[in-house]
Amino acid sequence: MNESVTIFPRGAIVSAAAQFPTPFFLYDEERLRENCRAFRETFQAVFPDFHPLYAVKANANPDVLRIVQSEGFGFDASSSAEAWIVEKIGGTGMYTGNYTPAEELAFAASRGFVLNLDDASMVDFLDEAGIPETLSFRINPGMGSGDRESNVLAGPDAKFGVPFEWASDAYRAAKDKGVRHFGIHMMTGSNCLDAAFFAQSVEKLFEIVATIKRDTGIEIEFMNIGGGFGVPYRPDEPTLDLRAVVAGIRRVVDEQCAKLDLKEPVLYAEPGRFIAADMGFLVGTVRVIKNGYKKFVGIDAAANDMPRPSIYGAYHHVSVIKVGYEKPTFETVSIVGGICENNDQFAKDRLLPACEIGDLVVIHNSGGHAYSMGHSYNGRTRHAEYLLELDGTIKKIRDAERIEDLYRGTNL
Ligand SMILES: Cc1ncc(COP(=O)(O)O)c(C=O)c1O
Repeated sequence: MNESVTIFPRGAIVSAAAQFPTPFFLYDEERLRENCRAFRETFQAVFPDFHPLYAVKANANPDVLRIVQSEGFGFDASSSAEAWIVEKIGGTGMYTGNYTPAEELAFAASRGFVLNLDDASMVDFLDEAGIPETLSFRINPGMGSGDRESNVLAGPDAKFGVPFEWASDAYRAAKDKGVRHFGIHMMTGSNCLDAAFFAQSVEKLFEIVATIKRDTGIEIEFMNIGGGFGVPYRPDEPTLDLRAVVAGIRRVVDEQCAKLDLKEPVLYAEPGRFIAADMGFLVGTVRVIKNGYKKFVGIDAAANDMPRPSIYGAYHHVSVIKVGYEKPTFETVSIVGGICENNDQFAKDRLLPACEIGDLVVIHNSGGHAYSMGHSYNGRTRHAEYLLELDGTIKKIRDAERIEDLYRGTNL
């Protein structure tokens, strides 16, 4: 059993549920900091100049961003809103938009972000955004790896990045515009647990770097290998061996720089899930128990709070905290929310302690790509976020939305 999936701050969750209405998210600062340190230190032990950036899309709560920043991270932003909040907390980093219009590039550039363009056609947008000293391109290296099809973000089906065969054209166009310093970026997939894949994709990126140098004379000064570092969601899944990932990348960097006569670029990475996923718990209360064709346990959280199971069929480990005594009986149930979509099911046919109305249900791994993917379908409001601080204090870090918030700007 992989305990990183099953361990949770039970006492703090019970205490929070006694003080505040459910559902809510609880984030564990200690685990968040541990994840940041494990990531940064493992890379910096082998690449002393390594720059970690945190992918804001995973969890954009300002308190979370400040903690990550205090652990030595810059930021990877992918929208004007993400660039805006990073600037508000005094940070900056790289800006990787998709199909990004010129005014959005200008917005990010004016906030100090290094632009990472997704296509050669966007080089012309620099006339409006300003010609930067330093620029990067997101390259599609032709290979991707993720835990499901929609998480494979490179290769022939992916909408992202400059196809590697045309990389030199993109860099040449930027050089002709007057850009002087260059980096290269890839983001090949999300939730990859295959340690060997990272070195394989870096090897491919070095071939591309060498081609760019041969075709344009440009020396790539930094290499951002993206995010995608996977975490286990199931208790029987292994954790990603980050040391093996880093050792594999080190070997490839040494081999390729020698073989291709390249200066070692400064290494960047931009994890989201690895930093934020397992620090967060979505906590709901059992409200309705229905014996239909199956047994359904209805809780007050729903897919709008944390849509991963509904969009991807993603597995999330679930724990039940009984209101009364702990019953020794288990039964197979589905844990569902109240949205009018049949995919609003956090767990399907799961063996769990028999539930009663009032029990707490904890959905694990709800810190990354969770609240940030939330929505308001069915007029459902998103719920509050709390932080379990290092000294045990439980601090509210975002109010629950109100129904009125959903109607802001209408003619009501
Ligand atoms: C450009 C970019 N960088 C980083 C990430 C973070 O990925 P992960 O959370 O898998 O580490 C993503 C996620 O989609 C992304 O699109």
